[in-house]
Amino acid sequence: MSDKVTIFEMGPRDGLQNEKQQIATADKIKLVNQLSDCGFSKIEVTSFVSPKWVPQMADATDVMAGISRRDGVSYAVLTPNLRGYEGARAAKADEVAIFASASEGFSQKNINCSIAESIERFKPVLGAAKADNMPVRGYVSCVTDCPYDGPTPPQSVANVAKQLLDLGCYEISLGDTIGAATPETTSKMLEAVQKYVPVSKLAGHFHDTKGRALENIEVCLGYGLRTFDAAVGGLGGCPYAPGAKGNVATEAVVEMLAAKGFATGIDMKKLASASTFARSLKGQ
Ligand code: HMG
Ligand code: MG
Repeated sequence: MSDKVTIFEMGPRDGLQNEKQQIATADKIKLVNQLSDCGFSKIEVTSFVSPKWVPQMADATDVMAGISRRDGVSYAVLTPNLRGYEGARAAKADEVAIFASASEGFSQKNINCSIAESIERFKPVLGAAKADNMPVRGYVSCVTDCPYDGPTPPQSVANVAKQLLDLGCYEISLGDTIGAATPETTSKMLEAVQKYVPVSKLAGHFHDTKGRALENIEVCLGYGLRTFDAAVGGLGGCPYAPGAKGNVATEAVVEMLAAKGFATGIDMKKLASASTFARSLKGQ
């Protein structure tokens, strides 16, 4: 099994989207540029979502226009619908991500439609992306727990993950949106999902509300997952997931992986500087 792990850096998007204070576009650009220098191959830069829903991401086009792109780095953005996709394409995103939920309550609150409606809404996005040769990643939120519906049945996660795969997503990121997963619930969820989606196409996306994200990542490693989402400085939260704290800190994940003998290609010194800057943006 591979001893390489890919970290998908979420700081500029998942890390900052929930900030009430508008963060200057120039600071977001500076953060992305610092992260580009750290050795990541994947950075989620921003979201082309409704600015009425997520005001912090309203400057998506300007952020994308301002960053200095580095060879070998894929600059990704979130796109909830065809309009978002068109914005992403115009901004020359290298890849886009669609986001569905395994629970109905979160789907309604986050994207204002049912799970089934969201899948219909994603079809034209996948169609356009295919014509453009644009890679599409798929998120499944609330993979173990939902802030509105309670515990999520593992089979619901498997069903949505399979639908996103069938639509053409190259990878499915399994999101513990509110950081409530435990090693036990993570394991039960993966047991179900791996029957429908090969583990080589799965990623783990853990928030760290209860401080168990690293343990959950260890469980995922045991199942063979080799891609994890994390945010520099442990920034993050989702505006439609009350109580959701930050994503697991990238530096903690890289350190844990290094101790286990996994290579990530991340420069820890540069990451520490990026982390200091990222946290300063949130007044930490
Ligand atoms: P809606 O209100 O049902 O849709 O929102 P609408 O089509 O009626 O649009 C409402 C307004 O937004 C309209 O403007 C549209 O034009 C505009 P108005 O006519 O009122 O002036 N609009 C847009 N503007 C810019 N870009 C767009 C766009 N689409 C519509 N793409 C919608 C539906 C999906 C748009 C909305 O619910 C939305 O944007 N939701 C995004 C919520 C979000 O970004 N949540 C955080 C990311 S998900 C997450 O964090 C979880 C994750 O990290 C994994 C995990 O942790 O689980 C990924
Ligand atoms: Mg998230």
